[in-house]
Amino acid sequence: MRLNQLTLVAALAAAFPLSTIAADAPAAPAQKPWLDRSLSADKRAELAVKAMTREEKLRWVFGYFGTAFPPKTTKPIDGAIPFSAGFVPGNPRLGLPDLLETDAGIGVATQNTPKPRERTALPSGIATASTWDPQIAYAGGAMIGSEARLSGFNVMLAGGVNLMRDPRNGRNFEYAGEDPLLAGTMVGHAVKGIESNHVISTVKHFALNDQETGRNEHDVRIDKAASRMSDLLAMQLALEQSDAGSVMCSYNRVYGTYACENDYLLNEVLKKDWGFKGYVMSDWGATHSTVQAANNGLDRQSGQEFDKSPYFGGALEEAVKNGYVSEARLDDMATRIVRAMFAKGVVDNPVQQGGNIDFAKNGAVSRATAEEGIVLLKNDNKVLPLSKDVKTIAVIGGHADVGVLSGGGSSQVYPVGGNAVPGLEPKVWPGPVVYYPSSPLRNIQALAPNAKVVYDDGTDPARAARVAAQADVALVFATQWIGEANDATSLALPDNQDTLIDNVAGANPRTVVVLETGGPVAMPWVAKTPAVLEAWYPGTSGGEAIARVLFGAVNPSGHLPATFPASEQQLPRPKLDGDPKQPEQRFTVDYKEGAAVGYKWFDQKGLTPLFPFGHGLSYTTFSYSGLASQVKDGRLHVRFKVTNTGNVAGKDVPQVYVSPLAAKWEAPKRLAGWDKVALQPGESKEVDVVVEPRILGMFDEKSKTWRIAKGKYKLVLAEDGAGKNATSVTVDLPASTLDVRGRLRK
Ligand code: GLC
Repeated sequence: MRLNQLTLVAALAAAFPLSTIAADAPAAPAQKPWLDRSLSADKRAELAVKAMTREEKLRWVFGYFGTAFPPKTTKPIDGAIPFSAGFVPGNPRLGLPDLLETDAGIGVATQNTPKPRERTALPSGIATASTWDPQIAYAGGAMIGSEARLSGFNVMLAGGVNLMRDPRNGRNFEYAGEDPLLAGTMVGHAVKGIESNHVISTVKHFALNDQETGRNEHDVRIDKAASRMSDLLAMQLALEQSDAGSVMCSYNRVYGTYACENDYLLNEVLKKDWGFKGYVMSDWGATHSTVQAANNGLDRQSGQEFDKSPYFGGALEEAVKNGYVSEARLDDMATRIVRAMFAKGVVDNPVQQGGNIDFAKNGAVSRATAEEGIVLLKNDNKVLPLSKDVKTIAVIGGHADVGVLSGGGSSQVYPVGGNAVPGLEPKVWPGPVVYYPSSPLRNIQALAPNAKVVYDDGTDPARAARVAAQADVALVFATQWIGEANDATSLALPDNQDTLIDNVAGANPRTVVVLETGGPVAMPWVAKTPAVLEAWYPGTSGGEAIARVLFGAVNPSGHLPATFPASEQQLPRPKLDGDPKQPEQRFTVDYKEGAAVGYKWFDQKGLTPLFPFGHGLSYTTFSYSGLASQVKDGRLHVRFKVTNTGNVAGKDVPQVYVSPLAAKWEAPKRLAGWDKVALQPGESKEVDVVVEPRILGMFDEKSKTWRIAKGKYKLVLAEDGAGKNATSVTVDLPASTLDVRGRLRK
């Protein structure tokens, strides 16, 4: 179709949105076999789509924003839940419900409004990843999915799993760090938890949307095989482990083509190679065409108000009528969507608003996640845990008197009890800045009722130092707010907090730094502070979780899912690509590091980070023994014993890394597996880690296979990626080939 005809079609479509072109809908059918629950989701979807008119099929592929979008709309489409992310009208004639969509990965979000829905917020995604416990991730997902359902939503736009290629990415807090196996596993379990509530969830943002600067326009270049072993592997694992009903394609271009009209990503990788049977929804504002997008794998335009045109509205109807998009492709689009609705129980378990939410129970789920995700980075001279008999405690900065920080953007969940620190800039997108009203100070006071707790807001470092000097221990809370659509300008803590920490540490040798950050930050003062906790954005009950870790009511067991660089000069791109002041500028981001993301890059370059991937201390100690490996049922098993050699109960995260002694990989080692083991003092447990075979191979794009080279491999069991407490064995593996989904080829 020539450009001028397309322009005409788009103009027509804009003038006549779909709903006014519709033919008279036929009467309700006498029989609705697709509602027969004994049939498979495939069969039910096939029957339902067969009963649809073309107009009815088209309605499923055209999604609306659930909130007014001035100047295009002054009020949201009828039926949408107020200040929600999305809405797609259902089909009452066929007994198929509306699709009511909410963000996002840490709970039921609300678009910016003076009266937001107040819901439970999990800690940030990176905090959940720091637990290294897939069951914790599942439980958190199950909790927020239940709140979504009780709020009337049947779609939850969660499952963010973009890899941390850059520690300054403004959405790192929503994701799960730098390693594809850890990230894919943790997010896969979280999405499975959400979908256990008969709610469709997503895995997003597909793919390689690994920075926010210029997100709508930048063009990612990366070796295809390298992407398969990094970003795409994280998504592949998340999809395998969750069976998510939907994938959200991303804003950026990949190899020159927008991700949401990218035949290679959507048709070849996702649908053909991986066998994805769900549907691809665009990100909001990520649809850029009708014919190209539909034929290259996009199944649903989302938040059509954000796009230049209603591409999947009348224009798609015209394109189908004129044969530029086949009827069969339209059937496939509608079938994928409706199949997900049957498969996830959305049709058989209709949602309704106004359900009764048990916020106390859900707050406890959030707290459990925060407690397991807090990472004890440093604890010299056992400054921690604090004794409840401590006499004077100085609590300084970070609004620690009233609350804990959360991240900004579409994932923003507004807390029960309201924003503890209203009015901070930015008040508009991706703000507002929200603190959850879970006060570290009040919870510290509760755990040390006889202590004198003095608060200083930290705005005057000299005054704060004087307060610290009077105390037995000084707790400095340092915050870094990041938000969607923007990257952190540097790894430095903002607002002069480095000076604050330096001054306080100079005044009191027992200074503990508690970080509430979206991701890795620089710590120029770290030599002067004996103890450092990374609490991330700790969620609805974060103040309680922090206090319980500080006093040892909980023994910290978090481990870093991302490397903390010693400086930005160590990064593949010391300066982030693109210009934040020109968001519409098109530029190329060249991921020359390929699959060597995070610790793999540091290992390849022989760089020493500030804190390594996998790092995390405990109030007890652990030892490893009996390391052995065995190939059984085609899988490599790594067995060992973990012992708690200290005098308090605790949880360890023994990590298994694999290094080829002959084959050539992108980096010296890869994470091959781990476990999380709870042990009483003196207790031991046998662990059996089964290695995901794709981690042992190199992906070959031409044959679309994972090739495991014959030869020796070193298996290292350690407490972190730097080889702490390491013990190792060597295993001899035969050559083998796995298909694109990691299955052994006969
Ligand atoms: C956003 C985000 C996406 C979110 C969607 C709906 O811009 O990129 O993660 O789910 O729009 O709010």
